[in-house]
Amino acid sequence: MKVFIGVIVFIIIISTACSLDNGLALTPPMGWLSWERFMCNVDCDHDPENCISERLYKDMADRIAHDGFKELGYEYINIDDCWMAKLRNAEGQLVADPKRFPSGIKALADYVHSKGLKLGIYQDCGILTCAGYPGSAFHFEIDAQTFADWGVDMLKLDGCYALPMLMDSIYPRMTKALNKTERPIVFSCEWPDYQRGVGQHQTRQ
Ligand SMILES: *[C@@H]1O[C@H](CO)[C@@H](O)[C@H](O)[C@H]1NC(C)=O
Repeated sequence: MKVFIGVIVFIIIISTACSLDNGLALTPPMGWLSWERFMCNVDCDHDPENCISERLYKDMADRIAHDGFKELGYEYINIDDCWMAKLRNAEGQLVADPKRFPSGIKALADYVHSKGLKLGIYQDCGILTCAGYPGSAFHFEIDAQTFADWGVDMLKLDGCYALPMLMDSIYPRMTKALNKTERPIVFSCEWPDYQRGVGQHQTRQ
């Protein structure tokens, strides 16, 4: 099992293009992100050990904390796509899938923090996430505040269902929204990747 986790733990490279001057990520943040191995497996009925659920992230937090990775500097447990319910609540807030995250993200963050680790979460700057869950378009401030209220420490903001040519103005909106929450949250941007994908050079530094 140690070999297996060693393969999937990797360093998250943070683009400097949208970093906040808040003292975070002065060295490359190190942690574990679920996508590479578990992708959008939401079939907890048939595959409870491998589906995107609070069980998976708690299990990984235990492994990072107790199998020697924490001592080596691995610190973040990062949720990727497919953690959400398909609809926002009546207040317009994101909610975790109630079946797969019955305790909610706040409780998961508390658990991860109790291990001396940090929790990252995933969202998308477009109208939907890459897997079709509700995106952050028109909801940057409310989503940033929700993540801050939950005690989230890092945000990966993907770029599906958004126009790469508009990302120079879209991504900084989340930068501002995160800053406004006053919680230190590392901002991991997919922005340059999407612009490179359409041959567009990044115009901001
Ligand atoms: C918000 O931005 C200011 C100016 O860059 C910075 O000093 C501050 O630490 C930021 N706060 C957070 C929580 O990111």
